[in-house]
Amino acid sequence: MDSSRKAATAARMYDYYLGGVHNFPADRAAADAVIERFPFVPEAARANRAFLVNAVRHLAESGIRQFLDIGSGIPTVDNVHAVARRVDPGARVAYVDIDPVAVAESMEILQGDALAVAVRGDVQQPRAVLEHAEVRRLLDFGEPIGVILAAVLHFVPEHRVADDAVATLIGSVAPGSHFVMSHSATESFELFTATEDVYQRRTSTPGTIRTRAEVERLFTGLELVEPGVVWAQEWRPGAVAGRVESPRLGGIWAGVGRKA
Ligand SMILES: C[S@@+](CC[C@H](N)C(=O)[O-])C[C@H]1O[C@@H](n2cnc3c(N)ncnc32)[C@H](O)[C@@H]1O
Repeated sequence: MDSSRKAATAARMYDYYLGGVHNFPADRAAADAVIERFPFVPEAARANRAFLVNAVRHLAESGIRQFLDIGSGIPTVDNVHAVARRVDPGARVAYVDIDPVAVAESMEILQGDALAVAVRGDVQQPRAVLEHAEVRRLLDFGEPIGVILAAVLHFVPEHRVADDAVATLIGSVAPGSHFVMSHSATESFELFTATEDVYQRRTSTPGTIRTRAEVERLFTGLELVEPGVVWAQEWRPGAVAGRVESPRLGGIWAGVGRKA
């Protein structure tokens, strides 16, 4: 077994929660340990993905034609470019992830696609992402961009680093750009006794959780699009997700903000 398979990664654990096939025994064991303590996690992952699809569709219908998806993960059904291109077949997408396996899988499915790229990058170093040659080649920073930070900022434990990363991205995109953000919720996870952090022990991207107020703070400098920061299942449900039965078990805060 090559070394990249021995340690679990967040990207492949998330793929397992979603019922995907891009995961190895170490990922499944770590994910099962999470599910044992937090049984709602697969449902939260599905809700997060449904929110992402809803939000990208909303952005595309609002005229956004290019996307920067940071922490994009392993390609699954309804990738950002597929959703956006249902509205505009010319939509451009730059996928960025810290996990080389996620980037490799993305590159494979994007082969021959001149309007999408996948590159390795760290959301904690937003300037390097923004200056990446492939990203610059594809995206026009003079026009509005849909910046997606879905279920990735909970891998940035320090509040200041997360706040600064988002602020840098906001400062670097044109007015009219939108930010799609979702994040693991303290309000859900604290209902369960957490004695150990599986992500801390088994992956290279330790996890953290944030309160609704902390997630709202990430939108500083943006106009929050209705309905604001809500449970992922409650962000304009209907097309994909259903209403959550028990909102405190929603697991994921989600929202969209617009740069005026
Ligand atoms: C839970 S998945 C979310 C995937 C996708 N954004 C979604 O919401 O469906 C989190 C992804 O963030 C990536 N990630 C973790 N830390 C990161 C970092 N510092 N910079 C960029 N990506 C990171 C992981 O590799 C993983 O692919």
